[in-house]
Amino acid sequence: MGTVRKKLVIGNWKMNGSLEKTKLLVEGLCAELQGLDLAGFGVCPPFPYLAQAASLIGEGALALGAQNLSAEPQGAYTGEVSAAMLKDVGCSFVLVGHSERRSLYGETDEIVVAKLKAALGQGLQPVLCVGETLAERESGQAELVVGTQLGAAVHGLGVESMSRLVVAYEPVWAIGTGKTATPEEAQAMHAYIRNCLQNCGVDAASVSILYGGSVNAANADGLFAQKDIDGALVGGASLEVSGFLMICKAAVRS
Ligand code: PGA
Repeated sequence: MGTVRKKLVIGNWKMNGSLEKTKLLVEGLCAELQGLDLAGFGVCPPFPYLAQAASLIGEGALALGAQNLSAEPQGAYTGEVSAAMLKDVGCSFVLVGHSERRSLYGETDEIVVAKLKAALGQGLQPVLCVGETLAERESGQAELVVGTQLGAAVHGLGVESMSRLVVAYEPVWAIGTGKTATPEEAQAMHAYIRNCLQNCGVDAASVSILYGGSVNAANADGLFAQKDIDGALVGGASLEVSGFLMICKAAVRS
């Protein structure tokens, strides 16, 4: 009998929102997701709105996550936010190594590993984001790139800790472009990721692997039908209650 992994849908708001928008989205989602416990749901608002979101969620069926964190525990790091602070305001998870962090803010695998350790140290579940660029895919290096990003995490954290992570495969060429990987392309990479983890000695069947990159209400069913796709990390389509809900409901019925 295979392990049953509950589907997970996470909204990454990126640098979008306001007090008003946070209220609208969080209240709208909590009202509609009540009782839909066949899947898990989460949102990642920008830092200033985390505490507000936490109080709006209350006991609601929405997990709260941050989009980034500092690898440092505290101190003179102007502009940074620690894992303990995220925990303090009610986060249960955090995105680590999103491709925008890697490409725009110079996050290397070494920094990503340090951030993963900081998150785990505070009991926050990290969502480790991996993915290749279009040039890397076209030159046949997609698996090598993703395998290297994963390998850095396994090497840095050790096999035991890897089972505490969620992995999000987000091909860079599909993020915010409206160009999704086909379900078959995504499935092939997810199977590769699960295989890599298994070969490293990780209990890969228990690790959730999310797909991200232009997921929307129209393509979610096809993606969720794939055997190694355990949910989605959603950017643009998470900024409207109705669109995000349709993806959440696709996860529930899959
Ligand atoms: P997108 O973003 O859904 O807007 O492509 C996904 C992400 O970057 O997590």
